[in-house]
Amino acid sequence: MADLAFSVLRALADGKFHSGETIAQELGCSRTLVWQAVHTIENTFALPVYSVRGQGYKLAQPFDWLDVSAIRRDLDGESAEVWTVAVAEQVDSTNTQLLAHASADELHGLVLATEQQTAGRGRLGRRWHAKLGSCLMFSILWRFDRGLAELAGLSLAVGLALARVLRALAVPVVLKWPNDVLLNDGKLAGILIELSGDALGPAAVVIGIGINLQRPADIDQPVAALSDAGVYLSRNALLARLLNELQRMLAEFDRHGFAAFRDEWMALSSHQDQAVRLSFSHAEPVDGVARGVAENGALLVDTADGPRVFHVGEVSMRRQA
Ligand code: BTN
Repeated sequence: MADLAFSVLRALADGKFHSGETIAQELGCSRTLVWQAVHTIENTFALPVYSVRGQGYKLAQPFDWLDVSAIRRDLDGESAEVWTVAVAEQVDSTNTQLLAHASADELHGLVLATEQQTAGRGRLGRRWHAKLGSCLMFSILWRFDRGLAELAGLSLAVGLALARVLRALAVPVVLKWPNDVLLNDGKLAGILIELSGDALGPAAVVIGIGINLQRPADIDQPVAALSDAGVYLSRNALLARLLNELQRMLAEFDRHGFAAFRDEWMALSSHQDQAVRLSFSHAEPVDGVARGVAENGALLVDTADGPRVFHVGEVSMRRQA
């Protein structure tokens, strides 16, 4: 049913009225199936549809699809050479899809963006939920000459690349270690980095990014969206800007590592010199004062037992009440 619902959504995307009969003819199915697909669009995709006797169906808002040529149009020269962009209507998770390709040598610079994930994943085993059209979700596959051991600060550098693009759009985001992008204390974007390779040899990395354009409903933590800052950019235009910045950042990271980004990252850090609590999946929490990050991206915290260093992994950080 999801396939047909996507086809009907395409037929309705312009936000004008289309009769059930015309859509059924175009798609070669019955009017009952079109009606059922409209139900899926309303109930599963949560997009309101008007249904008016004699006129047909109309989306309350036009739907702006992800589109490879629109994305490529805004890529700058070097970036256009590096990225191979693909769009899928629905996948389990863009990270899962790209990880499956991580061992094939030829796919450096592959980008997969999707309208919907059925099993979107977040850090620390969490799920990533998004309403159709309200979140930009994509993953990129990048190969480094550096071994995995040297990639510890990468997730912070990716957060900084996002912050550069968003701040250029006048969205005053800050960064929470290791890689949350916050707006007004709510999470605007999440980053999930997954590695494939060995400690010393070249590594393949899948970088998954989700950015809220509209606020998601029913999330049990403070969230934010670009619309909170009055920014309404198409997902295609936003993705192109992000790819341009990510290409520059990844090339620089490959040459110099996180050290090249550390000062800029610290200047945007949301928890600098504040009391924080670090939580672990298999250990007691640790309280202390956040003192910035090391050149490898590790978090420096002053605790009652003296200064300590925490590495990106099974740690999450919250400001102390
Ligand atoms: C987090 O903050 O926990 C990370 C969230 C990352 C979500 C993105 S959406 C695109 C990509 N595919 C996934 O399954 N996850 C990432």
